[in-house]
Amino acid sequence: MAKTLQVLGIESSCDETGVALVALHGDDLPVLLAHALYSQIEMHQAYGGVVPELASRDHIRRVLPLTQQVLLDSGCTLAEVDVVAFTRGPGLAGALLVGAGVACALAAALKKPVLGVHHLEGHLLSPFLSADPPQFPFVALLVSGGHTQLMQVNGVGRYILLGETIDDAAGEAFDKSAKLLGLGYPGGPALAVLAEQGRAAAYALPRPLLKSGNLDFSFAGLKTAVMVQARKLALAQGCLVEDLPAAVLADLAASTQAAIVEVLVKKSLAALAQTGMKRLVVAGGVGANRRLREQLNAECARRQVRVHYPELHLCTDNGAMIAMAAAMRLQSGQQTASAVYAFDVKPRWPLDLL
Ligand code: KG4
Ligand code: ZN
Repeated sequence: MAKTLQVLGIESSCDETGVALVALHGDDLPVLLAHALYSQIEMHQAYGGVVPELASRDHIRRVLPLTQQVLLDSGCTLAEVDVVAFTRGPGLAGALLVGAGVACALAAALKKPVLGVHHLEGHLLSPFLSADPPQFPFVALLVSGGHTQLMQVNGVGRYILLGETIDDAAGEAFDKSAKLLGLGYPGGPALAVLAEQGRAAAYALPRPLLKSGNLDFSFAGLKTAVMVQARKLALAQGCLVEDLPAAVLADLAASTQAAIVEVLVKKSLAALAQTGMKRLVVAGGVGANRRLREQLNAECARRQVRVHYPELHLCTDNGAMIAMAAAMRLQSGQQTASAVYAFDVKPRWPLDLL
């Protein structure tokens, strides 16, 4: 009978420290035993964005207490950890080094193997932690703060890039538009909340590359269009953009969200049509967006396509997805080098080159 392996996962690529423990038994889908997360958002808010050096220092403060909490919650001891996984990239170099360093130190002390995981692969496989896990193959829409990609996923580690953003990511479009509407950082969720009170058709904003004939995205121009529209309205009212009436800001937010969501939905449908696949997985922080989920659900239902999402709390960065990706890699035959604790990180690391 197969032995159960306990995989500890550490995520520290940006502004969230995440730790999780996953149990892997034979060919069964790995099971999440416990996970703990600390978000640095409050600390970075004062600066209007992530300050890399502060992020690294805070990961150092949080990672071991979070590990202790995960062990406590799961009822496991450190000695029972069989593999230590960490986010190797992409992300902020200093922040990644903290997770990599701690993971390798723990593994060396335990004399257990380490496994460096691709952050986007973590997002991509995070729906396997949900109550309704997908099956391979599927089309994946990866929409985070730093990446917007459509991938054909044939299995663990078998990824074909179908299209990606040529400039800003979808999350960046949310965040930058939110910032110029005075919604602070990270603005995506705040813009989505405000958009609920606005009219999506209030302002005609561009749908970049919608008719490009390929599966690439471009969101940098949209942010500029939002800025031009907002400044025009502010000029007419003789006020600053952030002092525009609440109803106008809500209309701007709703129109911005509608433009981003429409492009993401139509390109996802085009990817499904191109590949002939009947399954879509949506992953990454923007996958938490309610409008995106509603529209994808409606359009996919019409085409008999199943859509899978991670649990809402696992859409944004977390340790569970890193432990899960490591466990699924081990399951698919990935070898770990034991007693090799020299590590590197890959701040830039294309997923399709895995
Ligand atoms: O995947 P993630 O946590 O981090 C990266 O790997 O980048 O994604 C964070 C991004 C941010 O841009 C954030 O504004 C966006 O996801 N986001 C949302 C929502 N929740 C998070 N964007 C739109 N609507 C949301 N509800
Ligand atoms: Zn992420």
